[in-house]
Amino acid sequence: MFETIHPAEAVSGAIRLPGDKSISHRWAMIAGIAEGKTTIHGFATGEDCHSTLGILQALGIPVEDRGSEVIIEGRGLDGLRAPAGMLDAGNSGSTIRMMSGILAAQPFVSRIHGDESLAKRPMQRIMTPLQLMGAQIEATNGKYPPLTITGSQLKAIDYTPAVASAQVKTCILFAGLYCQGETIVREPVKTRDHTELALRMFGADLRTVGPVITLKGRPRLEAKELTVPGDLSSSAFFLSAALMARQSNLVIGGVGLNPTRTALLDYLVSIGAEIKILNVGEQHGELVGDILVRGSVKRPGQITGALTAALIDEIPTLAVLGAATEGIDVRDAAELRVKETDRIATVAENMKRAGIRMEVREDGFTIPGHQKFHAAAFDSFGDHRIAMAFAVAGLSADRPSTIERAEAASVSFPEFYDTLRRITS
Ligand code: S3P
Repeated sequence: MFETIHPAEAVSGAIRLPGDKSISHRWAMIAGIAEGKTTIHGFATGEDCHSTLGILQALGIPVEDRGSEVIIEGRGLDGLRAPAGMLDAGNSGSTIRMMSGILAAQPFVSRIHGDESLAKRPMQRIMTPLQLMGAQIEATNGKYPPLTITGSQLKAIDYTPAVASAQVKTCILFAGLYCQGETIVREPVKTRDHTELALRMFGADLRTVGPVITLKGRPRLEAKELTVPGDLSSSAFFLSAALMARQSNLVIGGVGLNPTRTALLDYLVSIGAEIKILNVGEQHGELVGDILVRGSVKRPGQITGALTAALIDEIPTLAVLGAATEGIDVRDAAELRVKETDRIATVAENMKRAGIRMEVREDGFTIPGHQKFHAAAFDSFGDHRIAMAFAVAGLSADRPSTIERAEAASVSFPEFYDTLRRITS
């Protein structure tokens, strides 16, 4: 499917975003192994979180999917049933990596796979800790999906992951729910802490001291009534569009503002954006508020070290913003190469199509500022964040651009193009 993007002078209005993808996955998975009926309002509408719901159903958990409201009838830690066939994680790395922690502790064998993109994503990062806990996992060439997981009684470990990854941390903690004693994860770099907040909220005994998380096994998890905040990562496209436009005045309401995710806002402020946060409140342990953006970029941006992990999903759109404004330098970002696509390569290819100059390295890139996007035939390469980032690029081009395989946006944001049209003129 093609989408045509028309140049825009102004980005203004008030929008709300679909529910946070990271939080929706976690709340759904925990609800499936909690006791009783959990209702989740504002559940992420994207395909990824629906892959998680499909897997819970295949494991015998009743799920009523009413779009953005989802009811999950958890059957307790030991309530999952052996699936009849292969579990399908679709395009979702979060689903396969986080669910594997739960599957590894079940008294049955599961096979889990995904689409063509997922079949190329590395799984050793979760296989190694799960194997240390006693799980038996087979993978294609020892590292790629499909995974065949022979569940068993696991033992608690004290583990320092080699990669800064919230998915890996979550996988280990989910497996730790089934262990006797304490599972400890020592994070090399602090990553998003939605799992820790959610486990505590559902009733687990979990402590965090600095980078060390300790979880006591075999908790009783209790069903809840929950509302998911809007997805801050999805706000990056609109914030970037607003900062690139000649006139902008945009309000994004009800967005998740968990401090382990707000590096995006700090980064934008550091390059000169005027951002105001209003109506901050707390929802089930997560901070929520409205974001108001105005102004323009005044300084080049640099993303290196720990900041790279904190901004990993936002880098494609920040690259577009950098090219059109004061430039951007991204380092220590080899992880970008193993996302839904090799995002260094897919960003570079689309930049080339629009006549943007950039220097590409194995673990990052440098894009000089003050460049003009020429209208182009962009390609999502099947990657949702690439589709949306280059739709933003199209807004500042000289003539209409197209996005090929634009439907990829539905993985996290089915309403993206409609929302973009509503605020651009
Ligand atoms: C996510 C963690 C990040 C991120 C992904 C969602 C999560 O991946 O890129 O989109 O919900 O935990 P890694 O943990 O692999 O860095």
